[in-house]
Parts: sequence; structure tokens; C-alpha cells
Amino acid sequence: MPEMGLKDKVAIVTGAGSRADGIGNGRAAAILLAREGAKVVLLDATPAWAEATKKMIDSEGGASMVVQADVTDAASCAAAVKAAVDAWGRVDVLVNNVGIGGPPGSAVEVDPDAWDVAMRVNVTSMMLMAKYAIPEMRKVGGGSIVNIASIDGLRGGNPNLMYNASKGAVVNLTRGMATHHGPEGIRTNCIAPGYVYTPMVYARGITDDLRDKRAKTNLLQVEGSGWDIGKGVVFLASDQARWITGIILSIDGGSMAGTLNTVTPPTAFV
Ligand SMILES: NC(=O)c1ccc[n+]([C@@H]2O[C@H](COP(=O)([O-])OP(=O)(O)OC[C@H]3O[C@@H](n4cnc5c(N)ncnc54)[C@H](O)[C@@H]3O)[C@@H](O)[C@H]2O)c1
Repeated sequence: MPEMGLKDKVAIVTGAGSRADGIGNGRAAAILLAREGAKVVLLDATPAWAEATKKMIDSEGGASMVVQADVTDAASCAAAVKAAVDAWGRVDVLVNNVGIGGPPGSAVEVDPDAWDVAMRVNVTSMMLMAKYAIPEMRKVGGGSIVNIASIDGLRGGNPNLMYNASKGAVVNLTRGMATHHGPEGIRTNCIAPGYVYTPMVYARGITDDLRDKRAKTNLLQVEGSGWDIGKGVVFLASDQARWITGIILSIDGGSMAGTLNTVTPPTAFV
């Protein structure tokens, strides 16, 4: 039975801050990786938000450092990976967590320029971080990449077409990277979170009614949190997932398994 194997490994988590108090997906992943003994690079465009994550890790005795970087910029990604290597000598894990809701609207409504910007944030950034992290993983004989998509990358229905499109791209980016880098011991997996309650969702305001309705869209009828996603990240990053690559793990209270049928009476065909 493999151990977690994360002690003293170096993990970069992009978007490790949170835009408000509370626990986002990136923050949860960073804290949980640190709890397993990993040294965590808290990469964020807004260092103050990552500093808040660092304080939480410090309070538990974990090891982390904040690196300011913009994942849409190649030179910034390269510098962030270099900062990790300069500080701790290696890179073992990359969590590509940065993602935004992007511009609103259908194909008819959406602003094409804003679309391009958002695709760069949600998709291109993951290629850029991998571009610089993978050569470091090769030097240590392998590694693990976890990309954060969304259940909206596995089905339609988001009012923002850009979100459906970009998260769908993350899903197949994962499979492509798993194919390219599996033979060199670099595993690439994806988590497709359902509608979890994180600062990304509530920072701009959400009514209690909408929050409740959102939670009730899953089969378990229970609201998910950043911790639910973070736990999945740690598992996929760890040696316990040593034989897992190229998977899309939905963590969603069953949302992708089906929808509750509230229309058809159970006896309709008897
Ligand atoms: N909350 C949900 O219901 C939900 C559902 C499905 C998927 N997701 C996905 O989870 C991921 C985000 O989760 P979170 O909870 O950590 O979000 P968050 O908003 O709490 O944190 C995101 C962090 O990313 C940073 N960031 C944004 N753009 C950046 C850039 N260009 N370079 C560097 N850092 C940047 C922000 O400063 C912020 O600290 C996204 O990929 C999102 O699409 C969320």
C-alpha cells in the first residue's frame, strides 16, 4: 500500500489565495498539501490573498512561501518555477487551480476580446505553468499535475459559454498531457468540481435562497466546500494515486451521475 509520499515534496498551487475570507479550492489544496508535509509554493497574482493562506499554514507549522506571478504571462510562470527551485531545489507537484467565470453570455452575446483574455486565464495558463514545471519534474524522475476544471467542462448549461468551453478544454488538455508525459513518470489528472461554496462564489454576493438552490442541484442534496476539492487534489498528487493518470474526477455530490427526477412518478410504467 503506497504512502502519501508528499513529505518534503515541493508543490506549486496556482491561485492559492482567495478573493475573500474563507476557503477556496486553491487555498484548501495548499493547506492540505502542507498538512501532508509538502513545501507549498503559494502562487497568486494578488500576494496579500496568498499571504492569508500562508498565515493559515504557518499556524499549523507547515512550510510555504508566497510567489507573486501572473499565470497568463510566460515569463512570470518561468520566474515562479525558478523561485520554487531556488528556494527548495525541486518541483514535484503542480496544481493548476487559477480559473475565472469569464465574460457573460452566449455565442451571440459574449464580447470576443474578453473571451480571448479569459481563455488565456483558464486554459493557456495551465500549459504555461506545465511548460516550466515539467522540466523540473523530469530532473527528479517524475511528478504529478492536477488541473482544476468544472462539471461545466463536462456538460453544457452555464450561462457563460466561455466557461463551458474553457473548462471543457481543461478536461482534454489533461488527457493530452497525460499521454505526452506518462512515460516519463509525470501523471496528469483533472478534478471537475461541482458547485462548491467558495469565496469565488460568494465574494460578489449570493442570496441565501440561491445558495440553497445551488446546493440542492446535486444528488446528495448537500453543499460542497473547498475542502472537498482540496482532498481530491491531495489524493491525486500523492503516491496513493501512483497508477492514476489522465482521469477526470468529478467531485460534485453526484451531479454528473444524474439529475433527480421530480417529474416522473415511480409507478408510471407499472
Ligand atoms: N467555486 C466553485 O463552485 C467552482 C466550481 C467549479 C470549478 N471551480 C474552479 O475552481 C478554481 C478556483 O477556485 P478558488 O476557489 O481557489 O478561487 P478563488 O477565487 O478563491 O481564488 C482564485 C485565486 O486565483 C488568483 N488569480 C486569478 N487570476 C490569476 C492570474 N492570472 N495569475 C495568478 N493568480 C490569479 C486570484 O488572485 C485568487 O486568489 C477555478 O479554476 C474555478 O473555475 C470553482
